[in-house]
Amino acid sequence: MIDSKTLDIQSIRESFPILKREVNGQPLIYLDNGATTQKPQQVIDAIFEYYTQMNSNVHRGVHYLSQISTDAFEVTRKKVQDFIHAAHEYEIIVTKGTTEGINLIANCYGEAFIEQGDEVIISAMEHHSNIVPWQMICERKGAQLKVVPIDDRGVLDMDKYREMLSPRTKMVAITYVSNALGTINPVQEIIDLAHQVGSPVLIDAAQAVQHIPVDVQALDVDFLVFSGHKMYGPTGVGVLYGKESWLNKIPPYQGGGDMIKDVTFEKTTYNELPFKFEAGTPNIEAGIALNAAIDFIEGLGLEAIQQYEDELLAYGTAQLSKIEGLRFIGTSEAKSSVISFVVDGTHPYDIGVILDKLGIAVRTGHHCAQPVMDLYGIPGTVRASLAVYNTKEEIDALVQGVERAVRMLL
Ligand code: ALA
Repeated sequence: MIDSKTLDIQSIRESFPILKREVNGQPLIYLDNGATTQKPQQVIDAIFEYYTQMNSNVHRGVHYLSQISTDAFEVTRKKVQDFIHAAHEYEIIVTKGTTEGINLIANCYGEAFIEQGDEVIISAMEHHSNIVPWQMICERKGAQLKVVPIDDRGVLDMDKYREMLSPRTKMVAITYVSNALGTINPVQEIIDLAHQVGSPVLIDAAQAVQHIPVDVQALDVDFLVFSGHKMYGPTGVGVLYGKESWLNKIPPYQGGGDMIKDVTFEKTTYNELPFKFEAGTPNIEAGIALNAAIDFIEGLGLEAIQQYEDELLAYGTAQLSKIEGLRFIGTSEAKSSVISFVVDGTHPYDIGVILDKLGIAVRTGHHCAQPVMDLYGIPGTVRASLAVYNTKEEIDALVQGVERAVRMLL
């Protein structure tokens, strides 16, 4: 085990039941955490407890079960507020996930504030979910999408970014950590520069909040989105943080129950924050269990998680670099938890299939970031993405697996 000062990785692993199973007759080595993390027992228990003790709709009933499920759901909102250091609980909008959060802002903010001739700035390393919604609103409004380039290490060209900013900039939407490259972007600088031209900033923190402490007030970010399932929580729940001043100015997303104050056929008045943006019955059990996921992270401490994962990342990078013909895609100095690579003369998919036979789960392909692969002129990469329960021994097995795959394929 890597010498981490504070974390007992073996005991952490014990709380993840799935890590005890075998795949293809081999102990599971799960290195696809960028796609989704595994869930600790306390998250699984929270879902079980919801259905066995409190199943009921939220924000609607006077009866006991509805009150306790509402309370549990709202406890998560408060927990998220503290987790990202938001000023107010009502700035936390519960969504289905990162993609919905970005679509909500692109649509609602975009409808109200983006006009013909305006510009939206994204980066060349965005996930499709932070490209396509902006393309759609730009097309609808006659606005222009500008893309900040990256260099061959996968580092954002900040000079080009500075040049692109202008009074026409109406939104800057950038990822905190690239899911395909692992690059950590200088988000504080990105936000400060955008604010100088009066543009709000949306940060896609889907690959960040489980690895890096985030403080939305210190960042002064306008919108920040992430998903529960990539941070040891359930699927189907995510968070949109928005500054109160913006959320009050932008129109609602979907119409329906919970987001209204009064409805007549002539006119509807909308509910206050956060409910204005939460139409319909939410994913209640996932919302409630997200609280347990944050407890899990906070129980270990994000600084300790980050330190351990950084050690693992450095170890994995050093070991894999010994393989002849292996080339890393994404070599920024500021990196988090992602090792993407290709091996000369092999296809990432073939390596992925051979690793799977060895019980090792990695992701292969374009990782929903096709423009990144186009920039490197490759069809995709093999991506090992780390979580706090991964070990040095698992990295060793990955390296041996890749060596074996390369021997078989070449
Ligand atoms: N965005 C997820 C990934 O990077 C699905 O794998």
